[in-house]
Amino acid sequence: MKRKVTKAVFPVAGMGTRFLPATKSVPKEIMTLVDRPLVQYAIDEARAAGITEFIFVTSRGKGALEDYFDRAPELEASLKAKGKTELLKVLDDTTMDSGAIAYVRQHQALGLGHAVWCARHLIGDEPFAVLLPDDVIAAETPCLQQMVDAYAQTGGNMIAAMEVAPEMASSYGIMDVPPSIGRVLPMQGMVEKPAPGTQPSNLAAIGRYILSPQIMRHLGEIAPGAGGEVQLTDAIACEISERQNVYGYRFDGQRYDCGSKAGFLQATVAFGLARPELGEELEGFLRSIMAQRRAAE
Ligand code: G1P
Repeated sequence: MKRKVTKAVFPVAGMGTRFLPATKSVPKEIMTLVDRPLVQYAIDEARAAGITEFIFVTSRGKGALEDYFDRAPELEASLKAKGKTELLKVLDDTTMDSGAIAYVRQHQALGLGHAVWCARHLIGDEPFAVLLPDDVIAAETPCLQQMVDAYAQTGGNMIAAMEVAPEMASSYGIMDVPPSIGRVLPMQGMVEKPAPGTQPSNLAAIGRYILSPQIMRHLGEIAPGAGGEVQLTDAIACEISERQNVYGYRFDGQRYDCGSKAGFLQATVAFGLARPELGEELEGFLRSIMAQRRAAE
């Protein structure tokens, strides 16, 4: 059965230890790529794909995230008094409507699958999207929109897929798919962080999912998996064996792993270069710093 996807879950309960000391006081999702918090990119992508209900799975210490989505009355009044209409519009575009956003707490760090399961009462009996804000995807047609369009044909469950180098496979959920050059790939299995050399393919799951409500049931029943955590991948694997209705979706676009420092920096450079007001200056700087490094070698 195919239904319109209007709800999205954003797991944002992680402690962000890879970005310490910054994440001592700033939630990782608020850290900025150019001038927008990481999480804003995922929200924009979800909105563009027709999502109207945004569910954040948070944890202690994420207050700044809730404030970010709220109105900022003093700031707005001061911008208005100064006639700064463009900045007011920037604020307006990023403020969420009352009731569009809901927060649930993940009380213990028991894994991504557990985080998603925490949203089960808000999802109810509907298909839903999951967006992992660490995965930032630059694409002409936003990745989730590409998937929503494909899902309109297939129904079932759909997971963003990307080829990774074999030595990187053990960092991802890996899809078991028949060799194919197609975009929509029926999955025969899925394994979370396979031991090196045991991966069924080099096709990795990237943080965009369209899932059926059955996934919540599986999440409630499965035992902890890789790393002792409740894995979303394992619930998806159950759904594959029960119903064979899970597809990998090879998306068009460039993915940045903003859960790592290198990926965050790469995204910062790429997004900076893409900005009309910054691109030229940044490019000049990058060229000169590279020339200096080469000269020093
Ligand atoms: C999570 C998922 C994994 C997926 C990855 C994509 O892993 O568990 O299946 O491939 O996101 O970024 P994590 O990066 O949280 O270890």
